[in-house]
Amino acid sequence: MKLYGNIIGWGKYIPSKVVTNADLERTLDTSHEWIVERTGIHERHIVSEGESTSQMSIAAAKDALDMAGIRPRDLDLIIVATSSPDYLTPPISSQIQHGLGANKVGAFTLVTGCTGFVYALATAQQFIASGAYENILVVGAELLSRFVDWNDRATCILFGDGAGAVVVQATDVPSGVLSYVLGSDGSGGGHLILPGGGAVNPPNQQTLDMGMHKLRMNGREVFKFATRVLGRALREVISEAGLQTEDIDLFIPHQANARIIESAARAVNLPEEKVFVNIDKYGNTSAASIPIALCEAFEEGRAKVGDTIALVAFGAGLTWASAVIKITPHEKPSPMRWWQQLFPKRFARNGHHQVQSQPEGVPEVAVEA
Ligand code: ACO
Repeated sequence: MKLYGNIIGWGKYIPSKVVTNADLERTLDTSHEWIVERTGIHERHIVSEGESTSQMSIAAAKDALDMAGIRPRDLDLIIVATSSPDYLTPPISSQIQHGLGANKVGAFTLVTGCTGFVYALATAQQFIASGAYENILVVGAELLSRFVDWNDRATCILFGDGAGAVVVQATDVPSGVLSYVLGSDGSGGGHLILPGGGAVNPPNQQTLDMGMHKLRMNGREVFKFATRVLGRALREVISEAGLQTEDIDLFIPHQANARIIESAARAVNLPEEKVFVNIDKYGNTSAASIPIALCEAFEEGRAKVGDTIALVAFGAGLTWASAVIKITPHEKPSPMRWWQQLFPKRFARNGHHQVQSQPEGVPEVAVEA
């Protein structure tokens, strides 16, 4: 029997703090008009002190699990895509596994920049198709606001924070990832790099003085790369699925730049009404952008169960990734939120879930805001 990984639940977490273009005008030599015209971004959400990548991930994952009717202990594997984990080590995937109470299941972190979620979804599909696992949590989360140079107007205007998660479950009904294309061209790695803090330039006073722990980007080169690869990756993945552009109900691209999205849609003749865009509200949330957009597309009725959806992303590496997915109906087993069942008193009081301030066992460390 052939196995497919149907997406049976999705959730997102967006920090409440909003930074508008007008806010940036106060500290940078930029303007709302320039940012909107060149990127399509109006505002972005940024974490507050005390919020972290793992907390955002756990919140998004709880919503996805709740929707799926799956308890953390039912999970067989957790895959987390992020380039901005809480720590270099321990891996954030283990923090999330522990924070969710997912009983010692395998968990790993995948780092391919903004393409991470699509890479992770394709990976989850393989574990399911091989028969190894039944229920997999896939998270895309990013907290780049603590890694950008807020004095560099060419990069800081682009990024926002957030997390999205999906639950993938084995089924024999053709669904989930129908086809995927993954690519990488490391020759362009220097165009989007955080040069300090790794093994080549371990953190020291000099790397700090030189601002090497902040993201550096050659925007023009990344732009050219993106417009070159996205159309091709989309055409390939649609054909790989045995489909035509007309069969795609919705196109959910990585939300990096409205002009890049337009160019990718044009390359496969996708009409505007089939393209999902929310970059105006969130900016580029990197590995979180596609799962957040997927959630929102369903919330807004732009996507429906049964739709065929094309995903495409580009990012650091440089990398690209595309996938055609189909989400088929799933019967939710439990009407109650699993964590409400575990802690009925606490949730009767609060009325909604609360994110743990810090996963247990991980020391509080002061971080630069
Ligand atoms: N406000 C006003 N002017 C600005 C700003 C700003 N925020 N930023 C740059 N400029 C200026 C530049 O200094 C330059 O001035 P000059 O002509 O006097 O030298 C001028 O605007 C044009 O600069 P360009 O870099 O050519 O502007 P461009 O139209 O390419 O837009 C941008 C820049 C928005 C960064 C664009 O190149 C882009 O979106 N690139 C892709 C970046 C991206 O998607 N990165 C994420 C990758 S995914 C991941 O893995 C994280």
